[in-house]
Amino acid sequence: MEFSIKSGSPEKQRTACVVVGVFESRKLSLPAELLDNAARGYLSDLLRRGDMEGKAGSTLLLLKVPGAEAERILLVGLGKEREFREKEYRAAIANAVRTLNETGGFDGTIYLTELPVKKRDVAWRIRQAVLVVEETLYRFDQMKSKKDDVRRPLRKLTFCVERRTELAAAELALTEGQAIASGMSYMKDLANLPGNICTPTYLAEQASAMAKEHGLQVEILDRSAMEKLGMHSLLAVSIGSHQPPQFIIVKHLGGKADTKPIVLVGKGVTFDTGGISLKPAHEMDEMKFDMSGAASVLATMKSVAMMKIPLNIIAVVPAVENMPGGGATRPGDIVSSMSGQTVEILNTDAEGRLILCDALTYVERFEPDCVIDVATLTGACVIALGHVVSGLLANDDGLARELLDAGNDSWDRAWQLPLFDDYQEQLKSNFADMGNIGGRPAGTITAACFLSRFTKKYDWAHLDIAGTAYRSGKEKGSTGRPVPLLTHFLLARANAK
Ligand code: BES
Ligand code: MN
Ligand code: ZN
Repeated sequence: MEFSIKSGSPEKQRTACVVVGVFESRKLSLPAELLDNAARGYLSDLLRRGDMEGKAGSTLLLLKVPGAEAERILLVGLGKEREFREKEYRAAIANAVRTLNETGGFDGTIYLTELPVKKRDVAWRIRQAVLVVEETLYRFDQMKSKKDDVRRPLRKLTFCVERRTELAAAELALTEGQAIASGMSYMKDLANLPGNICTPTYLAEQASAMAKEHGLQVEILDRSAMEKLGMHSLLAVSIGSHQPPQFIIVKHLGGKADTKPIVLVGKGVTFDTGGISLKPAHEMDEMKFDMSGAASVLATMKSVAMMKIPLNIIAVVPAVENMPGGGATRPGDIVSSMSGQTVEILNTDAEGRLILCDALTYVERFEPDCVIDVATLTGACVIALGHVVSGLLANDDGLARELLDAGNDSWDRAWQLPLFDDYQEQLKSNFADMGNIGGRPAGTITAACFLSRFTKKYDWAHLDIAGTAYRSGKEKGSTGRPVPLLTHFLLARANAK
């Protein structure tokens, strides 16, 4: 989609469609009122006759409105003005774009971006508008033999701002929004691909191609390199699969040479059958999304490169497939991790932590400023927090605060869970330094406790995205989260310098 920013009167726009909002009940927003004045009460007349109430989710398309230069005017219902907040703003933009895409015009001029949203500035409204547009128009049809094309698809959108003094901030927000949206689509494409295509090798190839395209450094470690490093915990997950494991490292060195990097680690289980601790058949297909953490950190690197963020940022992805088989790891097997700590693998389905722990030890060599890992780690997180917020656990409260704020700012929210020492007991093993499971209580926390034993040398935070990375059911597919949270965190870091 081609985007632009503008400030000007709605009646004067020469465009296929001008989009303005109507609050419930029958209250015109400011730009709608301007149109109404130019049209000598044409709109208010329609409302009075009951053609539009302004209910959220409703639309009314008008052709050849007198006094307006545009070919069409689209009225979008906004719901009650007092209840118009972030969620309602996003829904209004989505509704407008869905409708525009179904009308005949190639372009549209949207005034909804002028609507006030409490505590949110023009930059927020523009960034969110770009993300919502791209989200609404996203299709994953690579694997369909026939694609259903839109007859006259929307090509150009203009977002309007009230004052000319807002133009500069809006333009910057537009660029940021486009970079974030582009990362999100990249993540979705990777995560939506099935396990037979998106293998560890495929992920490594895609990461290399993306790095090359954006001028990033990339390094891929193969199985023998991982063996030499002593990553036997990671390798124990991979060993039941015919797909070779890959360890992917991508670097964006946008900061001064001597500044410590921010390291992002993403769980890259390209398919999680559970291994010998086999998962039940119901919805097992969704375990193709178990590389969402990996996809999100690679996608964030893409966004970061597009925005040329002046920081040193490194993404690390341990990529494996978790399969049962004659050579697979058995429950009860004991392995030694790269850190030297030994692990009794009591459940082969708790594999995410087994690959992450070696990656978390590996990244010590970068002497990181901080490390954030992202993983579809526990079903328990879905039970605790549902599909609304990601779980956040950290060994540093400052870092946790920054990530919570970034989640709020990007509307890709997270919620912190405690990492109290008391939970560590649940990981006790009679035979090794620790077990890889902590029993039913507080499953998300004990998973993080496991990871915390490998992150003692740096500030670290963990995002459990099991409930937020993808949707099930009719709308099944990757959400692109937490790319907005991660990019906002990095933008805030860059601006704080
Ligand atoms: N990938 C799963 C977690 C998951 C479950 C993500 C459901 C999304 C939806 C992870 O590898 C896993 O299987 N975790 C186990 C851990 C348990 C064996 C301690 C779980 O959550 O059941
Ligand atoms: Mn698992
Ligand atoms: Zn998993």
